[in-house]
Amino acid sequence: MRALMMRLERAAGLDRFGDRLQKSVQSVLRPQRVRDALHGVWLGHPLHPALVQLPVGAWLSTAVLDLLPGQRRAATVLVTVGTASAVPAAIAGLNDWAALSREQRRVGLVHAMSNTVGLACYAGSIAARLTGRHRLGRTLGWFGLTAASAGAYIGGHLAYKQGAQVNQSVSELHRMTDGWHSVADLATVPERTLLTREIRDVSVILYRHGDEVTVMLERCPHQSGPLGEGKVTEIDGHACVVCPWHGSAFQLNGGEVVHGPAATDQQVLPTRVVDGVLQTRLP
Ligand code: FES
Repeated sequence: MRALMMRLERAAGLDRFGDRLQKSVQSVLRPQRVRDALHGVWLGHPLHPALVQLPVGAWLSTAVLDLLPGQRRAATVLVTVGTASAVPAAIAGLNDWAALSREQRRVGLVHAMSNTVGLACYAGSIAARLTGRHRLGRTLGWFGLTAASAGAYIGGHLAYKQGAQVNQSVSELHRMTDGWHSVADLATVPERTLLTREIRDVSVILYRHGDEVTVMLERCPHQSGPLGEGKVTEIDGHACVVCPWHGSAFQLNGGEVVHGPAATDQQVLPTRVVDGVLQTRLP
């Protein structure tokens, strides 16, 4: 399975279709508000993995009920709930997928295809059950579960091996040592300008607003984009840094994510000033 996943990552033949699908997703889900809602900006975590719990739970429960006598009605209700709830989960997943790297999109495409086959089997299963062909409905349900399980395996590779939609910056904290670290003479930090500094190979950005200086990890939590090369812009009355790679925006006075595709806040570090020197430490 590992070798197969590695081949999928390198399957450039998927790019033509993937690129076209990416453009379609981006043009259909154009409003920023819609994209942010589907990424899970409001939740502080990616929305797609949370939404998939409902179809997975309902479909697995259907499979159990299909093994028990006298549960046809309950199984039909559950398979319908699972199939209906898979639609918003798929839309949220497509929205995340459209902002992934090319290697991740190849694997994500096969993940989506497996789940689409599963969804089609379950739609057929519902139709069969509602027309009294319960044996066919059960069989299609088992096929659907098989395809959805393959999709889940591929989704696991996408998230845990390729790091799609996981926080890419927080591991930087593990490379920082305890204690206070000097980052700059406060007098040399200009107002409302992004500065980049290194703390033992961990890159941070500094942003001064009045007497306050924000120190924030520089790597974007979405795909490690360099926030130090981003633009500072005001969003809803807050100064925000906008990632130069895919446009995620984070408040500079706390790190809260304002626009996706990142769905998690950016880590801000505590600060103090000692003898005119700005210092920071692990949170
Ligand atoms: S790397 Fe994608 S938004 Fe920053």
